[in-house]
Amino acid sequence: MANDNQNLEKLTAAKAAINYVKNNDVVGLGTGSTATLAIKELAKRIKDGFKITGVPSSEATKELAISLGIPLLALGKVSSIDVSIDGADEFTKEFNLIKGGGGALFREKIVASLSKKRIIITDGSKLVERLGAFKVPIEVNPNAEKYVMIKLKKLKGTPVKRIENGKAFITDNQNYIFDTDFGLIDDPEKLASELNQVDGILAHGIFVNLTDSILMAKGEEIISYHKSI
Ligand code: 5RP
Repeated sequence: MANDNQNLEKLTAAKAAINYVKNNDVVGLGTGSTATLAIKELAKRIKDGFKITGVPSSEATKELAISLGIPLLALGKVSSIDVSIDGADEFTKEFNLIKGGGGALFREKIVASLSKKRIIITDGSKLVERLGAFKVPIEVNPNAEKYVMIKLKKLKGTPVKRIENGKAFITDNQNYIFDTDFGLIDDPEKLASELNQVDGILAHGIFVNLTDSILMAKGEEIISYHKSI
């Protein structure tokens, strides 16, 4: 559960990210508590006459955006997004992330992949030296449940099927999430590529080469990391 300071930092990061959105942009809308704050800030801008079209990364974000009056395009119907704003569960200064704490990793990855400028916003608690204290969320087709368990164990992972309110957590795409402990990850790119090869995995929460800028709030200050091109 986030404390007051974390919530303030999330808001500070959300406000900073909005400055990267230009009038008439198509904006990828992330999922989670930090992305929610950015979406609310965007909605305020729209009320002041700003025009954007949002592309939601989850059903929850879609509902939120509709409730705030943000015009939307469906993710499956867009071929390019100007800028996306999303949160992360962990990040390193090498721009590698773990995402999917909210279970929206697949659509978040598609949003990031379609975006010209990918901005990650976080409070001060998400920066790590090495990824992996946060267990890697992996979205699994239920028909491959046992098969993927075996494969993940072969990759030295310890998968645990996510349970919510006493039942299996079901994603927006009708799949399971396996929160998988790989220990601290030496080579995120290698692990990401190994996971990409397992049939039955729709997506995993290791995001490599999918981030351009990270805005992390520390107190009321913003610490920015920008990838040099
Ligand atoms: C959802 C995500 C979120 O971006 C991530 O879990 C961070 O969430 P929060 O902003 O609530 O800390 O990947 O699938």
